Amino acid sequence: MTFSTLDDADLVGKRALVRVDFNVPMHEGQVTDDTRLRAAVPTIERLRTGGAKVILLAHFDRPKGRWVEAMSLAPIAPALAKVLGHPVAFAPDCVGKDAAAAVDAMKAGDVLLLENVRFYPGEEANDQAFAQALAENGDLYVNDAFSAAHRAHASTEGLAHLLPAYAGEQMRLELSALDAALGRPQRPVMGIVGGSKVSTKLDLLRNLVTKLDKLAIGGGMANTFLYAQGHDVGASYCEKDMADTARDIIRLAGQNNCKLFLPLDIVVAEKIAPGAPARVRHLGALDDDERILDAGPETVERLCRAMANSKTLIWNGPLGVFEVPPFDKGTVTAAKYAADLVKAGKLVAVAGGGDTVAALHAAGVADALTFVSTAGGAFLEWMEGKELPGVAALSKQNKR
Ligand code: 3PG
Repeated sequence: MTFSTLDDADLVGKRALVRVDFNVPMHEGQVTDDTRLRAAVPTIERLRTGGAKVILLAHFDRPKGRWVEAMSLAPIAPALAKVLGHPVAFAPDCVGKDAAAAVDAMKAGDVLLLENVRFYPGEEANDQAFAQALAENGDLYVNDAFSAAHRAHASTEGLAHLLPAYAGEQMRLELSALDAALGRPQRPVMGIVGGSKVSTKLDLLRNLVTKLDKLAIGGGMANTFLYAQGHDVGASYCEKDMADTARDIIRLAGQNNCKLFLPLDIVVAEKIAPGAPARVRHLGALDDDERILDAGPETVERLCRAMANSKTLIWNGPLGVFEVPPFDKGTVTAAKYAADLVKAGKLVAVAGGGDTVAALHAAGVADALTFVSTAGGAFLEWMEGKELPGVAALSKQNKR
């Protein structure tokens, strides 16, 4: 896929409509994790220093086309200004006269954040008239929201067909990292997929076993695979109705020469509580009230060896209940080992999707991997092999 990037754009005096993803964790009006704000800085700075007026479009939460005060983007403007070291104005609407007046008042190099695009039903409906109303405020469109690119919405997809469209810096980074991990990886390429449910990651597992040389399955979903192979899972979380599906995936992996790594040993306890007494068990009989809550040391050691013999790693999902120590041990040990291999120049490691980033932060290695995606759902859909509408619309071949 080829894109126009900011290298190709004439910026001076232009109104740049930039789709960013500021769907950030907030608590009592304060941003509690500014990763996505920081990720937008390179594009904003590039545009500002190039002499453009930077007009930011974003969504927050899921107001479903209604005006929900608690989902206003207003508190984001000061948080962004802090990260940017530059004032950020806020307009109380994303279309219409309030938005137009705020844009008219801008000078080259100014930054303006418009109100939540999802306050209008036309956003999620990808309505042409709404996209046109957004386009009124721009001379060019920059999509820097990879993490919202799985949505075919007016501001993520529709706009790309109405204005000259460019991929922003974060979008570029995400796409090239993902290409290095799964598109054209250095082999052997290994995946680690954790998390609780097989049912939500079915497409992802099916796609990965056709692309990877090795795949380690951890977290709650490994229990389903163990159960499918006839192992006792005690009182563990397990999707018993997915056993046939798990067996299909095991078969598909075999057909595609993808070596599957399932747990050899496990950490069990009766309850999920900080410091709960945990025991290491080999596969076999569990007590009725025992629950599998982490990968065991032998499993983790084998996983680390497999990483050491790989050139590329793609990671989504924790290996255990990492939020509750001591059940974070498997995830933390494996993450630290991956970070050491990256540091030694032996591994390209790309991670992303939901809990993964939180788990890497807990392990203290979020900055030590080759690339950590800012995306949740978009990362998963991309791992599933799906086309992301926001990315496809930027592609030069797809121009209407
Ligand atoms: C995300 O946080 O993953 C993106 O901002 C997309 O949000 P959505 O799932 O509400 O579309």
